Amino acid sequence: MCDADNTTTKKTIRVATGDRAILPEGAKTIPIYIMGKKYDVPETLTIMKAMEFAGFKFLRGAGCRGGICGACPTVYRMAGDYKLHYGLACQTVVEANMYLAQIPFFPANRAEYNIEEIGGGAEAIHALYPELFRCVACNLCTKACPMDVDVLGYISALKQGNIKKAAELSFDCIQCGLCASRCMGEIPQYHIAQLARRVYGRYIQPRAEHLRKRVEEIESGKYDAMLADLSAMSKEELEKCYVEREREPDMTSPGAWQPKETRYL
Ligand code: SF4
Ligand code: SF4
Ligand code: FES
Repeated sequence: MCDADNTTTKKTIRVATGDRAILPEGAKTIPIYIMGKKYDVPETLTIMKAMEFAGFKFLRGAGCRGGICGACPTVYRMAGDYKLHYGLACQTVVEANMYLAQIPFFPANRAEYNIEEIGGGAEAIHALYPELFRCVACNLCTKACPMDVDVLGYISALKQGNIKKAAELSFDCIQCGLCASRCMGEIPQYHIAQLARRVYGRYIQPRAEHLRKRVEEIESGKYDAMLADLSAMSKEELEKCYVEREREPDMTSPGAWQPKETRYL
């Protein structure tokens, strides 16, 4: 959640650093409503930055600020329109007369399990989440998803026992919880999908040979000396090492580039 700091005055806004909102020169402001109260904010800002501009401080409900962590789900309605809209506060740009509410956490049911014990069949998923079968295919979950995930698609795949399809369809899920907030069957779709991806990764997907080889190399001590050298460096030496490191040029075709230093490949 976030707390309002009502002492902020727009006259004293200066160009700020880091993630704080910056008021562009001559920016046009528009009215938005945060928890029912009106604020005038620059029209160029995302919802998250507009709320910070209005004096709110994100203590919860913000993480990556890049549309990846799922911490900032937002529900909004436009004045005069009955429809609810959904978005991520860090990605969605404000519009005039938005009525906003943050949902940083949704109390969805989350089953406990040991992935090493439940096996690779759909029966375990069905037993841990029997509410899966309460789905009535209304598709409200898919309409609410800010990542355009086919939520009904992966729920239907899981009902049919197709774990691979569910894992693939839900791959872009960022666990924001908006789908669950709309579900009349009270289904925690994203927790079920996460379990499906875990089962898929643990029991169904073929093992990655290159990963197995690299783990063996690490365990055999191949990188110990290099890590010891790095650990012994001063901050300045580390910075120099980082700045002068060999880097793959942008837009190189896969496999076309090799570093000169090949000892640790
Ligand atoms: S919102 Fe719930 S009931 Fe509706 S399609 Fe999605 S999972 Fe099924
Ligand atoms: S599937 Fe649900 S939890 Fe995942 S991103 Fe979409 S709305 Fe959010
Ligand atoms: S802050 Fe991470 S998705 Fe918005």
